[in-house]
Amino acid sequence: MTKTHFNVLSLFDGMSCGQLALHKAGITNFNYFASEIDKYAMRITQSNYPNTVQLGNVHNIKANDLPHINLLLGGSPCQNLSQTTINNIKHNQGLQGDKSRLFYEYLRILNETKPKYFLFENVASMTNANRDVISQALECEPIRINSNLTTAQDRDRYYWTNIPVAAQPIDKGIVLADIVEQNPASKYWYAQSFDYLGDNEKVQATLHIKGHDILKRVYNLKGKCGTLTCLKGGNHQKKVLQDGKPRKLTPLEYERLQNVPEGYTSGVSDTQRYNMLGNGWTIDVIAHILQGLVK
Ligand SMILES: C[S@@+](CC[C@H](N)C(=O)[O-])C[C@H]1O[C@@H](n2cnc3c(N)ncnc32)[C@H](O)[C@@H]1O
Repeated sequence: MTKTHFNVLSLFDGMSCGQLALHKAGITNFNYFASEIDKYAMRITQSNYPNTVQLGNVHNIKANDLPHINLLLGGSPCQNLSQTTINNIKHNQGLQGDKSRLFYEYLRILNETKPKYFLFENVASMTNANRDVISQALECEPIRINSNLTTAQDRDRYYWTNIPVAAQPIDKGIVLADIVEQNPASKYWYAQSFDYLGDNEKVQATLHIKGHDILKRVYNLKGKCGTLTCLKGGNHQKKVLQDGKPRKLTPLEYERLQNVPEGYTSGVSDTQRYNMLGNGWTIDVIAHILQGLVK
């Protein structure tokens, strides 16, 4: 650990996108305490930032065991907050769902540690009722930012923070053609047939594979792809049409779509890389918020 008194506690730290974003924002002198339970995510964190102090399960964290915390970060699991439609019925357990109620652990630790600054992130697809519960608990309204301003991915998120954030990030106008690899390995290409939907359609084709409609979407390189998510099975990777043929995006492209440095997640399987990148934060969006600390 470095000799500094700026202590950051990151709950649900995943692969430590919080740490990447602090560096990107120009904040390099801090102690970083992380709460995470996924061994692959922790492996990636420790291989990139060996000084990270891993604290394990959020339920076991007590403020009394920690030094004074200056900044609390966290984006609790969103599975029960994201609205999904199965057989035309909207499913949403909200903040009481087994995963999403971990928000209350964030709240408990916020109240116990009383940091000067906090940042809490979650999906903008949650119901207004759930959003308002969080706003009331954190005593502020969220800022809504779509990662498509800094990358070629739609990722609509709420950020609750008391860090002064002036405006939205600048729109860099990046599209998929700017970030795709030119000759990805054969394992990323699909042999299945597809329906072509048009030169200027965001979803340019639908792939003939089994499963939910979302899995069949093949995105146009002239636009943005849908939100990267953690993988729940085969064929969940986002797909593009390149040289007239459909293929899944590569882990390197997933890194680029989250503004994560290239190769940051290497060292674990492709499946684990997709999974943690789908779970992660868009670095430039978080860095944009954290820059408020510097100013
Ligand atoms: C939405 S992801 C957040 C990812 C993170 N923001 C990043 O930068 O990669 C939620 C994370 O919470 C972790 N998690 C789930 N239950 C937990 C618990 N009880 N204690 C600590 N972390 C937990 C998951 O393993 C997952 O990595």
